[in-house]
Amino acid sequence: METHSLLKERFAANPLLLAPMAGVNDPVFRLICKKMGAGLTYTEMISAKGMSHGNARTFEMLTLEDGEKPVAVQLFGSEPQVMARQAAEVEQRLGEGLALIDINMGCPARKVAGKGEGAALMREPERARAILSAVAKAVELPVTVKFRKGYALGDDSAVTFARMVQDCGVAALAVHGRTAQQFYQGRSDRSVVGRVKAAVDIPVIASGDVFTAHDVASFLSEQGADAVMLARGAQGNPWLFRQAAALLAGDAATAVAVPTLQERTELARRHVLGVAQSYPAKLTSMRRHVSWYFKGTANASAIRRAVHSCTTVEDYETLFSQIVKQR
Ligand SMILES: Cc1cc2nc3c(=O)[nH]c(=O)nc-3n(C[C@H](O)[C@H](O)[C@H](O)COP(=O)(O)O)c2cc1C
Repeated sequence: METHSLLKERFAANPLLLAPMAGVNDPVFRLICKKMGAGLTYTEMISAKGMSHGNARTFEMLTLEDGEKPVAVQLFGSEPQVMARQAAEVEQRLGEGLALIDINMGCPARKVAGKGEGAALMREPERARAILSAVAKAVELPVTVKFRKGYALGDDSAVTFARMVQDCGVAALAVHGRTAQQFYQGRSDRSVVGRVKAAVDIPVIASGDVFTAHDVASFLSEQGADAVMLARGAQGNPWLFRQAAALLAGDAATAVAVPTLQERTELARRHVLGVAQSYPAKLTSMRRHVSWYFKGTANASAIRRAVHSCTTVEDYETLFSQIVKQR
């Protein structure tokens, strides 16, 4: 079967995706999202150059939890041959653990775009084309690409860019309705997704300001997206997957059901213990996650302050028992 038909089927079965998020998508979090209803989860973006230099920390990012397979792996870089070789390496290493390879052409961070990688490739369509064609040739599995509305503030080049990437043999594309220079500011322009969808035949994945189940439904029904990425809306709130799945299934009550303090505490604990067991070096990054789990609750700011002194699992356990007592 053609790779884009494969993805079309996958998205038709479940259009809810956990967006790639650097510094957020550890394997335990991805597994939590999957159990909450994500059809597919993405890794953090992984440097193809880092892989080609044999960087151990880069390779650690390819570690998967058993229950989460298959995942989407996102690579970034600017050298077509390096990208192609490392995509093939990922395919070989992960085997059935891999669903697709996604190429990052949307990251605006200076340390990425400043080196001609990520969103900078929207300004270099010939290089973008060379990368996508080389990667698509090097792997059997579907290759996808994620980009933005454009690069500079007033740019609206997504439709032209989408037509170009489709010609390179990619199986699907994801578009975020902000320009690179907007970073994460302002409102995401949803209409970009509809305009791109009308211009290409491959599946289109929507990204940008997905904070409620209704945001998901509106991308699917109003813009014609084939799938929707949950990003900041899922941070500390993987229940958003359950809410969105419920809305799509016609269960309006579950679509707005918010987790109790006890559910938040249990999930935060599960996340901390999972990371402590398998990825102890990442325990400090759990501070952000734990703060997010309690965002919007009565004691959110006190928890945010307290979490800053959590270093060990015992520190987190003490905090969790205090939270439950305060109920
Ligand atoms: C902390 C953070 C890290 C991100 N890392 C990546 C990344 O590694 N690769 C990528 O393509 N997009 C990345 N993004 C962008 C998101 O995938 C998504 O496109 C963007 O946040 C817009 O969706 P939202 O407005 O619903 O958050 C990141 C976003 C955030 C907030």
